[in-house]
Amino acid sequence: MKRKLLNRRKFLKNTSAGMAGAAVSSTVAGSSLFCNILKKTDVPAILGGKPVRTKPINVSWPIYDDTDVQMYLDAFHNKKWSEMGNRETENVCKFEKKFAELMGVPYCVATMNGTTSLYASLNALGVGPGDEVIVGPYTFIATINAILLLFALPVFVDTDPETFMINADLIEERITEHTRAILPVHIGGGAADMDKILTISKKYNIPVVEDACQAWLGEWRNKKLGSLGDTGCFSFQVSKNLCCGEGGAIIGNNETLLNKCRAFRSYGRDPKEKEGYPGANLRITPFQTAILMAQMRRLEEQQTLRSNNAAYLDKLLEDIPGFDPHKKYSGQTRHAYHRYFMRYNKEYFNDLPRSKFIRAVEAEGISVRPMYGTIPLNKQAFIEYHLNSRAFKNVFSKERLNKYRRENHCPENDKICEEIGLVIKQTVLLAAKKDIEDIAEAVVKIQKNSVKLL
Ligand SMILES: Cc1ncc(COP(=O)(O)O)c(C=O)c1O
Repeated sequence: MKRKLLNRRKFLKNTSAGMAGAAVSSTVAGSSLFCNILKKTDVPAILGGKPVRTKPINVSWPIYDDTDVQMYLDAFHNKKWSEMGNRETENVCKFEKKFAELMGVPYCVATMNGTTSLYASLNALGVGPGDEVIVGPYTFIATINAILLLFALPVFVDTDPETFMINADLIEERITEHTRAILPVHIGGGAADMDKILTISKKYNIPVVEDACQAWLGEWRNKKLGSLGDTGCFSFQVSKNLCCGEGGAIIGNNETLLNKCRAFRSYGRDPKEKEGYPGANLRITPFQTAILMAQMRRLEEQQTLRSNNAAYLDKLLEDIPGFDPHKKYSGQTRHAYHRYFMRYNKEYFNDLPRSKFIRAVEAEGISVRPMYGTIPLNKQAFIEYHLNSRAFKNVFSKERLNKYRRENHCPENDKICEEIGLVIKQTVLLAAKKDIEDIAEAVVKIQKNSVKLL
């Protein structure tokens, strides 16, 4: 296959309104799959034509078998339902050991969910009222909640438009005397640029908490995502590639720090009863870890399937101008594919707005979406709610909050949220090869007919 034969200039020169389809045809000449696609796809389903698929690609999730059920029941029957009173249960300990081994670290503290993993990590690192934590806005709201719940400010660094990760080149300029942590998010299971982030961390002596809540088995230079920073945080909520309904874990290499997290998880009680720590009850239950251990049996196999399908889709998209998978940094040795990210460039679709493209593709039986709605996280109302709260006003001066508001701009992230970014969810990557072909087919069909959809 030829790699994106048309650059943008050539594409626009060759393509007048209504000609996008012809341009696509010439781009993919020689590809029998695409020749077939182009023959089949005439009238878009949204205009009354036959859809590419009559049923959505739907791999039922979560996946389980009788062994999962039995492992859950065993946890039930043995009556060790909680780690109450700091009494360790075999079930939770086993999971922590297994997960630490899988991640290549000595320590793991399982928690009730990903949010509390982040919250406990930041707390253990001493983040508190008046501090600042550097973070990207292209993430799930929970990353930011964990910072705000500690009465610290999330200082947003713009997103790299190519990779959708925090733009590590912009981190240094946002560091101040108040910066207490850097919180990169391996969003969708891809890797943030950990070389640059760890260099900055070392230079300024600022700890790193990796939000790896979507990145189980993802890797940076052959090390697991989550194992490179001071702590790495995971979520096992039901939509996640490794799931148990609700659940979380903190991993790391620093025993003292992980012990603080462990203490914080259980009312602040130091497991060795030596020191006093702050804390809450953020404990996971043996039921959750039983499900996790059952699910871990198929994680690697599922992950390989996701990677193979993602590679196949990458290849198919090579031939569709203006519709690209997100780029990956060269240090990323494995993607966890919780999401498959794509960049939509409407100039190659006769200026068809992304919202109309989504509706048209949906009518073809293919679900693609913006990541988390269209309003960038750093502009959402919950930020102002916190800034206007009595607690924040007690902690931060009016001048500091106003400066924060003035500097809270992430223009590249705005474009990704509002116009460019699209995602496919992880379960679709567990489907058959033919289903993956349908995705490309639907995109080509809409591109070919884009002028009729304006
Ligand atoms: C990037 C990211 N961070 C944090 C979280 C929070 O995890 P949880 O929902 O388990 O609290 C999630 C998951 O939903 C997430 O995707």
